Amino acid sequence: MAVLICGGAGYIGSHNVFELIKAGEEVVIVDNLQTGHRKALNPAAKFYEGDIRDAEILDKIFTENKIEAVIHFAANSLVGESVQVPLKYFNNNVYGMQVLLESMVKHGTDKIVFSSTAATYGEPEKIPIEEDDKTFPTNPYGESKLIMERMMKWVSRANGIRFVSLRYFNAAGAIEDGSIGEDHSPETHLIPLILQVPLGKRECITVFGDDYPTPDGTCLRDYIHVIDLAAAHIAALNYLRKGGESNIFNLGNGKGFSVKEMIAAAERVTGQKIKTEIGKRRPGDPARLVASSEKARKILKWTPKFDDVEKIIETAWTWHKNHPDGYADR
Ligand code: UFG
Repeated sequence: MAVLICGGAGYIGSHNVFELIKAGEEVVIVDNLQTGHRKALNPAAKFYEGDIRDAEILDKIFTENKIEAVIHFAANSLVGESVQVPLKYFNNNVYGMQVLLESMVKHGTDKIVFSSTAATYGEPEKIPIEEDDKTFPTNPYGESKLIMERMMKWVSRANGIRFVSLRYFNAAGAIEDGSIGEDHSPETHLIPLILQVPLGKRECITVFGDDYPTPDGTCLRDYIHVIDLAAAHIAALNYLRKGGESNIFNLGNGKGFSVKEMIAAAERVTGQKIKTEIGKRRPGDPARLVASSEKARKILKWTPKFDDVEKIIETAWTWHKNHPDGYADR
């Protein structure tokens, strides 16, 4: 029996594929390579190039393989872009989920682990954020992921599919050997952008606002390593295999780091001074996003191994240093 990974050529998906194969799982990947990279594909996995909105390719995959469970990463995930072109997000993310669930029902696959996000909460009412806190997304990306969660909820009641939705906070880092890593185009995430300065690819890093109600005035985020995320997906899969009920879990380290603290940590890791300028706030950025992951720790027995932000940045640095142009270098 195989696990189908939708979006297995992407940043978080490819790290999950690596860990699943290491754990001895049979892996089948479907990815349209729109944002994923052919060079991030694991040769030990069976690969289908295709779009999850295409029911025919899903039919082919579910017919040619015995798919026991699905792990779903295939989605657009840029907050800013989602505000500009919301319909792209509703089409790819929401409609993609619909076709995927229809195929699962049709072919009798009854378990799904879903890549969700802290963006489902919007501006938090309290810190740390717990799974029962109010969900009020402030952008179409977060809204699309919340709708996808709700689709799974109703389908689970009607069709017996069980799901685990994992709401990640700030995914970061790379596999320790630096063989795969983060490569977005355009890049919008803080750590890769900071590291472009010591790589000589960028003059300086702009801090988006230093007048937030936080200790140093810059935004606080909860950075969680991709390999820890992968471990949580495997734990969620095994939880469903053991008959666990449909559930939602936050994934974070439970500690907030400011933008300025991240730049200082990157200076320590790279041994270089990182030129910084203060810019305007980026619209839609909450001041603080920090997870309570107590529920995942308790129920999934998940403990993040990379609980030190310097260690997280160090793994990202290994990847970027060896691949300054991302997968184009490989
Ligand atoms: N930042 C800067 N300068 C930059 C880039 C980012 O100061 O050049 C700041 C942002 O303002 C933010 C922090 O660094 O305060 C982290 O920004 P990222 O873009 O790396 O990450 P976000 O917190 O915006 O986004 C993450 C995930 C999204 C998810 C969101 C939830 O990447 O997928 O959390 O709100 F939707």
